Amino acid sequence: MTTQEMNQAFEQAYGRKAEKIFFAPGRVNLIGEHTDYNGGCVFPCALSFGAWLLIAPNADKVLRFRSLNMPQTYEIAIYAIKPQADRAWCNYALGCIDIIARRHPEAKLQSGYDLLYFGNVPAGAGLSSSAAMEVVTARAFTEEMGWTLADDKKYRTELALIGQACEHEYAGVMCGVMDQFASAQGKKDHAIYLNCDTLEFEHVPVKLEGIKVVISNTHSPHHLDSGAYNDRVRQCKTAVEQISKVKPIKFLAELTPEDWAAVQDAVTDPIAKKRARHVVGEVARTAQAVEALKQGKIELFGELMTASHVSLRDDYEVTGKELDTLAEAAWQVEGVLGSRMTGGGFGGCTVSLVRDEAIETFKAFVGKEYEEKTGLKADFYVAEIGDGVMRL
Ligand code: GLA
Repeated sequence: MTTQEMNQAFEQAYGRKAEKIFFAPGRVNLIGEHTDYNGGCVFPCALSFGAWLLIAPNADKVLRFRSLNMPQTYEIAIYAIKPQADRAWCNYALGCIDIIARRHPEAKLQSGYDLLYFGNVPAGAGLSSSAAMEVVTARAFTEEMGWTLADDKKYRTELALIGQACEHEYAGVMCGVMDQFASAQGKKDHAIYLNCDTLEFEHVPVKLEGIKVVISNTHSPHHLDSGAYNDRVRQCKTAVEQISKVKPIKFLAELTPEDWAAVQDAVTDPIAKKRARHVVGEVARTAQAVEALKQGKIELFGELMTASHVSLRDDYEVTGKELDTLAEAAWQVEGVLGSRMTGGGFGGCTVSLVRDEAIETFKAFVGKEYEEKTGLKADFYVAEIGDGVMRL
């Protein structure tokens, strides 16, 4: 859909023109999974698809929510902003508006607004459609409510933190900051090497001569729901508590593999032990992978991606049949450098590095294996790495 068509849709819905239009992208994470809420590093890129938001103030002191993707519409009085029941989609926007006001007391919602959202991130694919919606809302409403920062880098980090707080408070998912950060700080043809403890980051060029980043969608009905996700967060906390009896730490990501070898016996809970082993290994792999990419050692990067999947499958246990089938089929294709699940897990997508000449074979072989083993059809997209949130 073009922005012109979105503008027309706004006029049709509200009988007048939109005043401003904003865009925030979804993301794909190349490596560093389930490390963000453990104080570790991640390596995501923003995608060229995401969420658009068109807005115009109204004189009615109400927020009117419409989406070109969802049939439900909502009208919320501006003095009655609170989480809505039944997983209402407007929670991802309302939460941001609420949190902007709470984090920045000088920010004021002066009027009501008519809002129209449109998203083209495949739904439920683990490519952060909700983070895109949060960040686009945070971008629009910080400006409308009169709180922004001249320092663009700091401003974008704050937009990510607003989005993350919204996810915690309005969606009940105790997520890390990766998804919102990628959506806010993305840069065309670069990945973001982010330290999720300090929020320091670096844009690293993704220059892959003759190789593409291919996203494969399971279209699986199984998702990492807030329950399974929050369980992982708790299990990691248990590991931190048990390790802290012998070596005080705040986050699992503080441990090197050598530290882990020395302290692992302190983790008496067998599940927590597996989870911690993944996190420590993944943090080391992520640092190694970023170094490999910088040095043009793409084969090594691919091998580390594959090792990441194995650890997420065996120790973190967030893959499941669909993601494993896609990854394991990809590993068999000549010209695939590496393949792993990306995002929270269970359903969603894998990300693979595939040589140009192998892409058609990859799609045919992986697609066929997947359909035979799961009865589902996979979808494939060649990722375009795009910029972070913007006003258009
Ligand atoms: C989800 C969360 C992120 C991150 C990933 C796993 O996408 O929103 O914060 O924890 O899972 O790496």
